[in-house]
Amino acid sequence: MNNDKLDLQSPDIVRENFEKLATLFPNCVTEGADGEVIDFDLLKQELSHAVVEGNKERYRLEWPGKREAIVTANLPTTKTLRPVREDSVDFDNTENLYIEGDNLEVLKLLQESYLGKIKMIYIDPPYNTGKDFVYRDNFSKDAQEELIESGQKDEYNQRLVTNPETAGRYHTNWLNMMYPRLKLARNLLSDKGVIFISIDSNENHNARRLCDEIFGEFNLVTEFIWEKKYTTSNNIVGVSDVHEYVLCYCRDLNNLSDAILRLPYTKEAKARYKNPDNDPKGPWMDVSYHGPKSPAERPNLNYPIIHPKNGEEIWPSEKSWAYEKANYLKHVDENRLYWGKNFSYSEPRLKKYLSEMKGGMVPKSLLSNKDVGGTSNGRDDLRKLFKEYSMAIFDNPKPVSLMKKLLQIGTDKEDIVLDFFSGSGSLGQAILELNAEDGGKRKHYQVQLNELTDSNSKEYKAGLINICEIGKERIRRAARKIKEETNADIDYGFRVYRLDSSNMQDVFYKPQDYDQTNLDLFGDNVKPDRTADDLLAQVMLDWGLPLSLKIDQVDVSGKKVFKVAKNSLYACFDSGIDEDFAKAIAKEKPLRIVFKDSGFKNDTAKTNVKQLLKQLSPETEMKVI
Ligand SMILES: C[S@@+](CC[C@H](N)C(=O)[O-])C[C@H]1O[C@@H](n2cnc3c(N)ncnc32)[C@H](O)[C@@H]1O
Repeated sequence: MNNDKLDLQSPDIVRENFEKLATLFPNCVTEGADGEVIDFDLLKQELSHAVVEGNKERYRLEWPGKREAIVTANLPTTKTLRPVREDSVDFDNTENLYIEGDNLEVLKLLQESYLGKIKMIYIDPPYNTGKDFVYRDNFSKDAQEELIESGQKDEYNQRLVTNPETAGRYHTNWLNMMYPRLKLARNLLSDKGVIFISIDSNENHNARRLCDEIFGEFNLVTEFIWEKKYTTSNNIVGVSDVHEYVLCYCRDLNNLSDAILRLPYTKEAKARYKNPDNDPKGPWMDVSYHGPKSPAERPNLNYPIIHPKNGEEIWPSEKSWAYEKANYLKHVDENRLYWGKNFSYSEPRLKKYLSEMKGGMVPKSLLSNKDVGGTSNGRDDLRKLFKEYSMAIFDNPKPVSLMKKLLQIGTDKEDIVLDFFSGSGSLGQAILELNAEDGGKRKHYQVQLNELTDSNSKEYKAGLINICEIGKERIRRAARKIKEETNADIDYGFRVYRLDSSNMQDVFYKPQDYDQTNLDLFGDNVKPDRTADDLLAQVMLDWGLPLSLKIDQVDVSGKKVFKVAKNSLYACFDSGIDEDFAKAIAKEKPLRIVFKDSGFKNDTAKTNVKQLLKQLSPETEMKVI
């Protein structure tokens, strides 16, 4: 096979992990029956100061299938994402994404393009109430999957199963579903990224342990309590739950600066800053000048301060000062010390100016119903946009105001936000509303399984046959409403992609399965129903380019050429690629260019095109699929 071919598979994470370990611990690489393997006993020893003996009891979360869940996360996928222009809004210009399909496969496909690029992830997974559906990952090609492939069964409904408490694998099934998804999600978070996970008491304990393991216990920011309702349910045996949780973990607590995880100032908070002395730096409030430790513990914070009224030396008493002497002198210089009206205080206080509080207010761990709304508000938000339906399909869509609060805590104005259990699209609506309010350019990426709605429902009969149709329609309607009401200059569009099997014929992946003489049967390695748009999406993912980049279509020497993010990538999947075309394209100096393997006029043209590009535009990297 040509070595400049794109491999069109998600990266082999197992192999990459192996390489990383091998680089760090080359002495732990040994030979096994199938080639190179890691000697784990040796690796264990490398990581321990004491002599490692056999299996020991450990403090960790275990469940049947955990190892399989790790394998599941690392297994590459050959699936692809196909653009659906007709369902999209402003496809060519928007930077928002709506992806239909199982989020496990989708997360795998996004690994390269969005590695470390997502600032905030919000998820509202099935809570495992015994009534909701949990997706069962199944990678063996059994009889059932063959029925699906032949169109006799609906893939998603077959693989979505209820998980009743009586099943004996109640928590196990949920953990097996969540583990690989969270593991893959973590890779997408940026250095300063945060993940919020809605959950209730059914799985809160397991979700905490799972996240402790995946994100690191020290990266737990908080477990928010969301007061979802005021009223007590009187028919409950025991206690009526009026709250849920929103777990919040960050990618790396060391990277959390003042500027993130802060809320904008409320009117009341701003009112606490006053300017009684007409300070030119504007309103301020005064805070203590003492630190938490005693002067004996912090000798460098134990020095005399001079009282401006009488020149007396003031030494800290029980607690040392909060600042070193150099900073104290700076504070005096900047007129930052406040001694009360007419210098009546015996000790100074420090002025904190509103203008300098860029980080905003510190959020509280309680998300009160009064502040962010409850479940009934979530239902109302959805129904307001779909007045003609009951929308009973969604038990508890999240209130837009709760989503907005989390966005304010977790994002800056230009960040990318991902929700891979997006349901009715509450988070997408919240992003549009918040952007319209604060002039932000946050981008929403939503992933949702095309889980069928009830075929007897009014929604289904009107064409909202699955949850994706509802999610997309909600964003369209919310966008129209926000535009009408605010006329804000924001990105109202979204690009739709749908998960599907690879664009390439199976032979492309398994040449060993075919006899050499059969190969010409597969002259064109692209499946006949796939379009140039499909190929472009696959190439972008494979080359690690974000799917949200701007795409232009131009005509070059009579052929259709896609230009992605100006000259980042050119793609032409037309036939008859020859030397003249190469000369024309070389003038544009693309950084990358891709053609269809069968798209060249002939074998000589293929070689010449490569040579011409090398000569005329040496920085262009050429690939074929
Ligand atoms: C609790 S709902 C999310 C509700 C959403 N936050 C809202 O406000 O509307 C969870 C959603 O996850 C979807 N889901 C379950 N398994 C999935 C999977 N494997 N991939 C993608 N979506 C999935 C379900 O269809 C369901 O709509």
